[in-house]
Amino acid sequence: MTTNTKDSLFIRAALSKPVDRPPVWMMRQAGRFMKEYWDIKNRYSFLEMCKTPEIAADVTMLPVDLLGIDAAILFSDILVTAEAMGGQLSFTQGVGPQFANPVRSKQDVDALDTQVVHKLQYVADAIKEVQQRLNGSIPLIGFAGAPFTVMSYLVEGKSSRDFKLTKLMLHNEPALAHALLSKIADLTIDYLNMQIEAGVNAVQIFDSWAAALAWDDYKEFSHAYIKRIIAGLNRQDIPIISFCKGSSVFAPLMAETKPDVISVDWNADLRTVKESLPANIAVQGNLDPHILYADKAVIRKRIVELHERMKGQNGFIFNLGHGIMPDIPFDNVKYAVEVIKNELH
Ligand code: CP3
Repeated sequence: MTTNTKDSLFIRAALSKPVDRPPVWMMRQAGRFMKEYWDIKNRYSFLEMCKTPEIAADVTMLPVDLLGIDAAILFSDILVTAEAMGGQLSFTQGVGPQFANPVRSKQDVDALDTQVVHKLQYVADAIKEVQQRLNGSIPLIGFAGAPFTVMSYLVEGKSSRDFKLTKLMLHNEPALAHALLSKIADLTIDYLNMQIEAGVNAVQIFDSWAAALAWDDYKEFSHAYIKRIIAGLNRQDIPIISFCKGSSVFAPLMAETKPDVISVDWNADLRTVKESLPANIAVQGNLDPHILYADKAVIRKRIVELHERMKGQNGFIFNLGHGIMPDIPFDNVKYAVEVIKNELH
């Protein structure tokens, strides 16, 4: 057991220090592909799970205990900030997140409250509970959504394919969009600082839907706010990971925000991205999650190939290009973690 998580594989790789093998964790590792998740989920609603520190800790620990990954990620959701601001959030099975009061007008934006970090105390409590259980064995990653991605749910009122209303607000009412993004960014700074204070060992910012944006729109409506958030964090020596679906295009801008790690989607050649960045920025990624549906021989081959490609580079964290899908066989995920932990040198 590591008593000092600063010496862990994950933190060392995130800070671009040498490691014997790349550490591995997977986005959405605390979720529906595990039978044990459903055993808990069938008894509580999703938000009840997020808001009850004991249950959030139980779910956070599932992939730690069942997969042996090198970093835990807190079980929660990026939309809890939007709920704390006044969004009436529900999660319906098969539908996903929904806001009953979507944000479409100036009155709607004005009604959102930003001085609400105290409403998210349950997240700080969950972090403390998880850290007690981890007892220094591996680091814990906290997270928040990036303002553009959170905004998209508030404006659309639900998951969207094309982000039509959100992009219309950016294009027709940029001042309103900026007012909304600014409010989300303000709370997100307080929220991530609360997580750091509560004891997370790293934080990841999820901009899951940034790939919907044109370069100039990304710069004005997403990048500017991520920059503001990272600059506002009391980061100490805690690595900041910036994830964006679209990072294969936006990585040069993402680097300007000074994260420690950029989490890269699966479209890019990871080595090319790494070499395009300042040497002190690590990369995380970027296996196509669909590989985990494939035969084990294919999974092994793709992992070994990615590792070969990244050999000799400090600052590489094994992950997927985006989250694990709920119907990916657990056995395949476990096999992938075993290959990464036991077969890569
Ligand atoms: O990574 C982890 O394992 C930690 C937990 C985590 C969840 N959501 C749990 C969850 C994290 C980091 C998130 C972040 C999140 N939430 C993102 C960004 C990450 C990404 O994958 O891009 C986004 C876009 C959301 C919004 C959200 N929450 C969606 C789109 C959904 C799924 C809707 C659906 O039914 O497919 C959720 C719900 C959610 N968040 C679940 C889990 C385990 C499923 C809830 C359930 O049990 O039904």
